[in-house]
Amino acid sequence: MDFKKELEEYKNKINAELEKHLIKENCYEKKLNKSIEYSLMAGGKRIRPILVIATYRLFKEDYEKCYPYAVAAEMVHNFSLIHDDLPGIDNDDFRHGKPTNHKAFNEATAILAGDFLLNNAYAVISRDIKKINTQEIGNKIRVFNEFSNAINKLIIGEYVDTEDEGKDISQEELKYIHENKTGELLKLCVRMGAILAGASELDVENLTKYAKNIGLAFQIKDDILSEEGDEKVLGKPVGNDKKRKKCTYVSQYGLEKSKETLQDITGKAITCVKQYNNSEFLVELAKYIANRDR
Ligand code: IPE
Ligand code: IPE
Ligand code: MG
Ligand code: MG
Repeated sequence: MDFKKELEEYKNKINAELEKHLIKENCYEKKLNKSIEYSLMAGGKRIRPILVIATYRLFKEDYEKCYPYAVAAEMVHNFSLIHDDLPGIDNDDFRHGKPTNHKAFNEATAILAGDFLLNNAYAVISRDIKKINTQEIGNKIRVFNEFSNAINKLIIGEYVDTEDEGKDISQEELKYIHENKTGELLKLCVRMGAILAGASELDVENLTKYAKNIGLAFQIKDDILSEEGDEKVLGKPVGNDKKRKKCTYVSQYGLEKSKETLQDITGKAITCVKQYNNSEFLVELAKYIANRDR
């Protein structure tokens, strides 16, 4: 398997789907729509929608059916990034190598663009649920419910992360932040893919373990990159976690231990998913998350 090529193909498919949801018409809120497009199409890695589709494909081939859920996850992710960069939260000026949304537009526009993306995610899912009337509906309603619960947790995680700046916190509290602000959405994506494909409860639970491990790995790597990444490649500032006295995996455990844990949990994630016939892509994706430079 050519992982890089597959990753690129997934990204192109997702970008094409997201394009369909952009509003280009002339209207009073034209600038709001432009700011949404600015962030949504800024060059994100699309890991979350890829997880939805790739997990679905462990069980079924008609993966186009999960596009609304993949798109919704990426919309929520972008809402969280736009708000995360705001002066009241991380106060960051650059993302994806460009000025952050509130810098390119203004704070009011950035707040409302984030709000719109968050709510639109639910609108996209509810439109898909409305279209069907068969047994599939049970799985879709379950996914809708999990979606709303997970995004509540993302917001709670962001809150505790912000609230804890400059404080000395316990390892349990750091784990709580990570699991909520980053882990929940990644876990949701994997679970959505599995549930929508009609996977057994055993498989859903097993893949949840994969997701929890890559979720933690993802944030540890984000923290490492914030410490020693290359700003040009990363497209966002390096050193800001330290400057803001953020509680991160690196500040709590040090760089060396963080790198060790990263490799360890990536191995655990791979063990959870390897038993599936066509799991090569998800195995490679776990390695990519741990070894990425952006
Ligand atoms: C960054 O997420 C924010 C975190 C949850 C740590 P990504 O690194 O997946 O962001 P993009 O979309 O690829 O830029
Ligand atoms: C972002 O976490 C998490 C969410 C937006 C929910 P970070 O603040 O650590 O991510 P970056 O480094 O700004 O992308
Ligand atoms: Mg943050
Ligand atoms: Mg941030």
